[in-house]
Parts: sequence; C-alpha cells; structure tokens
Amino acid sequence: MGVTDTESLALLSFEQQERFRAELARSVENGSVEALWDEWIHSDDSVLNRIQKNWVEGSSPGLRQAAAIELQQLRWFVGLRLTASRPLEIPPGAVASQWISRAFDDFRRAFDIELDQCGDDKDLGVAKVSWLGRRSGLITLVTEAWLKRASADLKPIFGRELNALRAHIESQIESRRQAIESGADQSALAHERVDLSLPGVQRPVGSHHLIRQVFQEIEDIFFSIGFSVVEGPEIETPYYNFEALNIPEFHPVRDDMDTFYLDLPKGAPTPLLLRTHTSPMQIRTMEKQKPPVRVIVPGKVYRRDNPDATHSFIFHQVEGLAVDTDVTFCDFTGTIEYFVKQFFGPGVKTRFRPSYFPFTEPSVEFDVSCIFCGGSGTGAGGGTCSKCKGAGWIELFGAGMVDPAVYGFVGYDAKKVSGFAFGMGIDRLAMLKYGIDDIQVFFQNDVRFLRQFP
Ligand code: FA5
Repeated sequence: MGVTDTESLALLSFEQQERFRAELARSVENGSVEALWDEWIHSDDSVLNRIQKNWVEGSSPGLRQAAAIELQQLRWFVGLRLTASRPLEIPPGAVASQWISRAFDDFRRAFDIELDQCGDDKDLGVAKVSWLGRRSGLITLVTEAWLKRASADLKPIFGRELNALRAHIESQIESRRQAIESGADQSALAHERVDLSLPGVQRPVGSHHLIRQVFQEIEDIFFSIGFSVVEGPEIETPYYNFEALNIPEFHPVRDDMDTFYLDLPKGAPTPLLLRTHTSPMQIRTMEKQKPPVRVIVPGKVYRRDNPDATHSFIFHQVEGLAVDTDVTFCDFTGTIEYFVKQFFGPGVKTRFRPSYFPFTEPSVEFDVSCIFCGGSGTGAGGGTCSKCKGAGWIELFGAGMVDPAVYGFVGYDAKKVSGFAFGMGIDRLAMLKYGIDDIQVFFQNDVRFLRQFP
C-alpha cells in the first residue's frame, strides 16, 4: 500500500524515527543493539526494505520521488545511530587521532543538516532529544560504545572530540532557539536577503501583436488630426448594436449580423449579444457628449461568418465618428484620403463606391488599389489576382454621412449638426499593408509568424 500525499509521508517518516529511537533506547539498556542492524537494515524483511517496497514502489508516480527522499533520510538517521552504538573500528595503519576526528566530523555535519531542517520549537525539541537525550541520544550512544570501550591511550582523544561535539550541539541548538524566538522578522530577513553577486534572470521580452501595432499606427494618424480614442463593451444590447443605429428588429440587414447571443437567465431585462461592429459606440459616445465629437473606437467584433482567407468570426475594427455644426462630405473624403495616404503611402489609389448602411446617408464603401497586383487584377503567373479576384481593388471599409434618424436616438438636433462615420476592418488593413494572405494567422499565435513583426 503506497502513501497518498506528501504530508502523510512526512508523518510516517517521523513516526518511524520515533519508533527506531524507542527501540534503540531499549536495546542499549538490554545490550542488544546488534540485533537492530538486521531488524532495520540488513535482513530481506528489514523495516527499511519494507518501506522501500510499500512507500516507494507502491506509491503513485507523482509521490515516488518524495517517498524515495524520505526513505533516504530515514536510512541515514538509522545508520548514523547504529554506527554510533558500535565501537569505532580503526583500520590497521590508520592514524588513530585523524580517524577519530574524521568520524566526529561526520557526526557534526549530520547534526548541522538536521538542525537546518528545524523550523520551530517542536522540531528543536526533537533534535535535542535525538542528539543529547540521556537514553538514546547520539552523545550517549557514542559515550557508551566508543569512549567507555576505548583503550587507555585513545580515551583522551575520544573524550576531547566528544566534548567538542557536545559543545557544538548545545551552542547551535541554543542559537537556533534564539533565532526562532526572535521571530518571523529575522527569519524573513534571512530568506529575503538579496545576493547581488548572483547572475540576473534574463526574461525574454515580447512585442505587440501585429494587430495591436496597426491599432497604434491608426491611432497616431487620427490623433494628429484632432481625434481622440474611446473604447466600449464587447457585450452589447440589441438596442445599441441595432435599433439606435436605425436597424429595427425585422430589418433585412440583421440577417448578416444577428449572431452570437448570450444564454441569459429567464426574465433578464434585455437580450445580450457579442457586438457585430464597433458602431454601437457612435451612439454611446453621442449620448455622453455634445458636439463637436471627433473619436475613433478600436476594438474586437464578432460575426457568424465562415472562416476563410479574408473572413474570421472574430476580427477587429476601428470606428470613426466626427459630428459638428458644419461637417460636409468633403471633410469626410478629405479625412479618409489623408488617413489612407498616411497609412499606405502616397502611391496608393483610392475610390468610393455607393453602398448602403441604415445608419449613414449617403453610404459608401471605400476601396484601395490592390497592393498584390498593383491594381492590374493580374496575378504573378499571368492569371487572375487571387487577392482582389481580378478587380484591381480591395474593399477596406464602410462609411458615410451620419443618417439624421440616428441623431434622434441621442438627442442631437438633426437640423443643426452633421457628421460622418466609418468602420474599417483592421485585420484586412494589416494584411494589405504587410502582404499577409491569410487572416487566420492573426489568431493562431504561431510565434514564427509573430516574430516577423517585432
Ligand atoms: C460595418 O461593420 C459597419 N459598421 C461599418 C460602418 C461604420 C459603416 C460606420 C458606416 C458608418 P461592414 O460589415 O462592411 O460594415 O464591415 C466593415 C469592415 O469590416 C469590412 O469592410 C471588412 O474590412 C471588415 N470585415 C467584415 N466582416 C469581416 C470578417 N468576417 N472578417 C474580417 N473582416 C471583416
């Protein structure tokens, strides 16, 4: 039967030490210490061999190593005391004083190690009995087996060594007792002492994900023309995600966007969904502040789209909104063109196409010339460019002038204010700028890809 956890292991080990000490004390009195060698160490069925079988081999793999260490310590504990109970044999030719002194050095080292493991008064009491105890303490064993049985010429050497060992044990136990008494502060200080000579720990420094870097580039460009950044919740109510954006419940546009709803307890005041675009933040921002408004909103969005090279069910957008008393369509196109030239460089060509969004009027899609085929629509091998599918243009984002109906939801006077809004897909922007041909790599966390954008 193996042991089940490290705590019961330590307890068992301690019990065995106690049992051995009691047996040893009895055997010293009866003069039968020799029998303990067999009982505890040598015989096939010795206590330590049984422990090897039950604790170590019978334990779960996770505990086996801890059990082996406990057994080793027990073997050492028993072996040391049995050695101390048998007269010291000095081999012929050895210098007796050196031999004796080495044997006492071994005891001193063993004591120092045991003392080191004493964490409180109780441990200290056990160590004291184990080394200085009158019946079976190691000093008593050595006095009986070594000193008393030594020849007259060696007695003074044994006596000196024994006194020195006892003095060492007493003084060390006393100073350890004081250290324990002087409290946790001192021991914490000792543990937490900083060794300035140790080599430092080198931690690998990571870098921002490419999508985060692109967010940063976009934010910098819009900062430079007076926009600020706001962020909003990824879990939205249908009101902000749809209705306040002029998309009532049965509007056909919802078919594309009705996506991930949360399972809520019965009676929840409103359904909740993962936002399908960053546009709800247009409403939240205008609810909070009066015009002029100039913000961008970076963030994650979710849709029930099948994954392919340009679609993911989780992707990133940056929303933009500018509303003031006299914002025109020219301000809108000028802002967008400025951004695109800053982001892609002056060589890129752009175009607007008419489109439809319920919350902008007029609405447009904004395209850039395909950077993969240079706008020709022809791929490297002479066939159709696979990225723009031969069009020479790639759609970047939807945009338009804010529909006056939206101002009604936020308490703005549609007769006094006007503005524009846009929503760009950041993953596609990053793919175009950095020549990445599959959106999925952004979500796979393959460091070989990420390391290319330090
Ligand atoms: C919208 O999401 C509108 N909210 C944008 C808008 C904002 C219009 C403000 C008017 C005013 P659209 O569904 O087209 O629009 O998405 C915007 C961009 O997100 C797309 O042009 C595309 O770049 C990106 N996109 C859309 N679906 C995915 C997808 N599944 N995976 C990756 N990118 C996507």
